Amino acid sequence: MTQTDAAPAQLSELPGPKGLPVLGVLHRVRFDRLHLQLEEWADRYGPLFQIRMGPNRIAVVSDSASIQRILVQRPQGFRRTRRLESVAEEMKLKGVFASEGEDWRRQRRIVVAALNRQKLTDFFPKLAMTTARLRRRWEGAADRGEPVDLCRDLMRFTVDVTMLLAFGVDANTLETPGPVIQRHLDKVFPVLHRRTNAPFTYWRWFRLPSDRALDRALEAIQREVGEMVRAARERMAADPDREPADFLEAILAAVAEEGSGFSDEEIFANAGTLLLAGEDTTANSLAWAIHYFTQYPDMFARARRETDGLIAPARALEDLEQANGLPFLDAFCNEVMRIRPVAPIHVVEPVADTEILGCPVPRGTPIIMLLRHAATREKHFAGGDRFDPERWLAPPESRPSPHDRRVFLPFGGGPRLCPGRALALLEIRTVLAMLLRNFDLEPTGPAGEVREHLAFTMLPAGLKVRLRRRVAD
Ligand code: HEM
Repeated sequence: MTQTDAAPAQLSELPGPKGLPVLGVLHRVRFDRLHLQLEEWADRYGPLFQIRMGPNRIAVVSDSASIQRILVQRPQGFRRTRRLESVAEEMKLKGVFASEGEDWRRQRRIVVAALNRQKLTDFFPKLAMTTARLRRRWEGAADRGEPVDLCRDLMRFTVDVTMLLAFGVDANTLETPGPVIQRHLDKVFPVLHRRTNAPFTYWRWFRLPSDRALDRALEAIQREVGEMVRAARERMAADPDREPADFLEAILAAVAEEGSGFSDEEIFANAGTLLLAGEDTTANSLAWAIHYFTQYPDMFARARRETDGLIAPARALEDLEQANGLPFLDAFCNEVMRIRPVAPIHVVEPVADTEILGCPVPRGTPIIMLLRHAATREKHFAGGDRFDPERWLAPPESRPSPHDRRVFLPFGGGPRLCPGRALALLEIRTVLAMLLRNFDLEPTGPAGEVREHLAFTMLPAGLKVRLRRRVAD
């Protein structure tokens, strides 16, 4: 459907895949590949189509102008779904990601301040220290000849970074043998994904083993966060006049202010939110980048030459300025995030009756936005499905056209743009520069075995890599 076609009078008249009575298309959808199925249907049914999942009729949009309008008109015109809000609330995770309106504004201000550029500059030495720990962990695996479990190691790294930066806690899970907090965090996203998409709220009536495992994991996370809150309160009590040093201290200071509207629950919810939001997303983006390095050895070599020019052997990036001096690596990462964004779909709902491409969409209708679809189609990026970092380096006059940056939205957009974007990009550059400088890569399975698996974020399932200490050139 285009803007010029006669617009349907209601959502149910839009094109879309046929479903069964009661079930709708539920029998045709696997939630771990929901995004792939929806992208396939978008090619068949157009920029706006509808599906029915059980009792819910859902609008699915891949039209880039409509997506941009929706992203920008939050929170007043569109919101995250009420289902997400209630599921997050049950999990005691109704922090900045799952909140709306004034609650969201208050929380967002503190989160944005905690992750701003000055904080990142001051934080750099600790990021370098954490990167060195990851390097030692990988050197150990290389010396033992063991393949590394990339996603897990990278999650240890991202959780250590978030805890250091946001909570002032050196968890050092990278050098801690045995089970660590990630074991509990791992349980959250798959269940969150299942519950936010489930047509029925079955878990409110009976609990599957995975729901019970989630309860235990959430309790453990609460305990860990409780411990961090206690430590932060002690630090602040010992020196009551100093400025809050991190997110946890800032939110504790806000809670202590009379009339601030902050509650103790919000401390826990936001600490949990930051841990989760910064963990899988960054780790999985890194894992996809490493996968592409295994697929394109010439690009690995080029990125390595660039890194070698910047940092000494056996070292890593040493400051923020250095981190900004890697144009090819940045272009490579942009291309990874264009083709393999870890958040390929977003779900929202309109706060009031609205229309999309001329079709009325009633208040509260779930709308799935297919963000990757537009960014990989010929209409917006020349050779859209081709992996080509060069497109980000060429000057505008010689760049393949179209090159529509506006549809490149791996961190979302509008007022709810990911506040961790700068931190995430810094982590990604730092880890990849360390990898390029110190290790050679060897995939241990065929590329075809790596597949997209959606569990709230999209990860490279089946990725197995062996790292070897770099052979001197
Ligand atoms: C490569 C890594 C990351 C990716 C791809 C990513 C992606 C996203 C996306 C797509 C959103 C939704 C934005 C929207 O609704 O328009 C989001 C929100 C958010 N992200 Fe990230 N993120 C990453 C890393 C991080 C990190 C490191 C943190 C913090 C430690 C973080 C914290 C958040 C928070 C708090 C929100 C909610 C913002 C709000 O609702 O106002 N993210 N992220």
